[in-house]
Amino acid sequence: MSTGEILVTGGTGFIGSHCCVSLMKQGYRVVVVDNLSNSDAGVIDRIASITGSRPAFYIADVRNADEMDRVLRRHDISAAIHFAGLKAVGESVAVPLRYFDNNVGGTIALCQVLNTHGIKRLIFSSSATVYGAPDRVPVAEDAPLRPASPYGHSKAMVEQILADLSHADPEWRIGILRYFNPAGAHESGLIGESPRGTPNNLVPFLAQVAAGQRDALNIFGNDYPTPDGTGIRDYIHVMDLAEGHCAALEALLQGQPGFTVNLGSGRGHSVLDVVRAFEAACGHAIPCHHAPRRAGDVAEYYADPSRAMTLLGWESRRDLESICRDAWHSQCRQSNGASQR
Ligand code: NAD
Ligand code: UFG
Repeated sequence: MSTGEILVTGGTGFIGSHCCVSLMKQGYRVVVVDNLSNSDAGVIDRIASITGSRPAFYIADVRNADEMDRVLRRHDISAAIHFAGLKAVGESVAVPLRYFDNNVGGTIALCQVLNTHGIKRLIFSSSATVYGAPDRVPVAEDAPLRPASPYGHSKAMVEQILADLSHADPEWRIGILRYFNPAGAHESGLIGESPRGTPNNLVPFLAQVAAGQRDALNIFGNDYPTPDGTGIRDYIHVMDLAEGHCAALEALLQGQPGFTVNLGSGRGHSVLDVVRAFEAACGHAIPCHHAPRRAGDVAEYYADPSRAMTLLGWESRRDLESICRDAWHSQCRQSNGASQR
């Protein structure tokens, strides 16, 4: 499938940039919109280095209807993939209005302008955080939604808004993708995860400790009811995630009705598993300390990814070792000055 232009909001961010690479490799023409609040315009150069062509790029905020209208007038967009948003759980507790404004208000504004231009194919970045603490694992899409932070609420609210929108106007076809724990980087190391300030997430934090930029990893909790006492998550390689978006887009463009799908590997790994895999990738021991549990963390969750296979023909292919190898490669390139910001 290679027709049409695809709007990618948040396309210079971590997941969006990898998705641009996958889309362009499949022959799609990509139009990126990003306000650069959490990324750098240089990412576009690196996407071009990897793919051999440049996506169209606009610095714009999805909440700004005039800016978005101008972009949409210049292109022939057949579908949008909406990554743009804020994602730090802790920050969302401190400044909830900023999260609702950007994540909920941004999506409403985007849908309005898309509607005006008759663009009614949309893929939305949701999160496994909408499940909160699950009753059982693996977690399937029909599990109850119990988000436990303003960030999680913002994702669940958008899911509801999008369901109501497609109910009101069946021409809308919307794919909601609930990501588990995205990590890793493109194998080139040219793009990756380069969080501003202290990383919140395990893999980028580990990468910085391994590179000597931080003293040690704090392992949050070693008394969970899991085999080694540390938290278990479903880490999914960001390139698998990117390919999942291509499969979802393909399905929507071929006329499949809307869907809500988990994107995860279906495998759970403990914090200690990840530390060991990262040590193997970087070739040396990583200093770790045990620390108290982090507020809001749950002991264990991982996806039931079967619906993604049934509906989209997609499953993750890369393992934890690939995630750590590619994250480390990307970290080394950043440390060597091929800065990602
Ligand atoms: P990211 O911060 O790297 O990328 C988001 C991009 O959106 C950034 O480049 C930022 O500058 C841009 N942006 C933010 N608000 C904007 C706005 N109003 N207008 C235009 N651009 C804006 O984050 P990511 O990890 O790539 O996440 C992408 C999406 O996936 C987010 O919606 C996030 O909530 C969701 N998600 C991420 C994870 C994860 O662990 N990374 C897990 C589940 C869901
Ligand atoms: N952890 C540590 N030390 C750290 C960071 C994390 O021990 O410095 C542990 C956590 O306690 C948890 C595991 O590593 O057991 C994974 O933690 P992350 O912060 O990497 O990921 P979370 O599962 O907490 O949440 C992530 C994103 C959310 C998203 C969710 C989706 O941060 O935005 O995945 O599943 F919603």
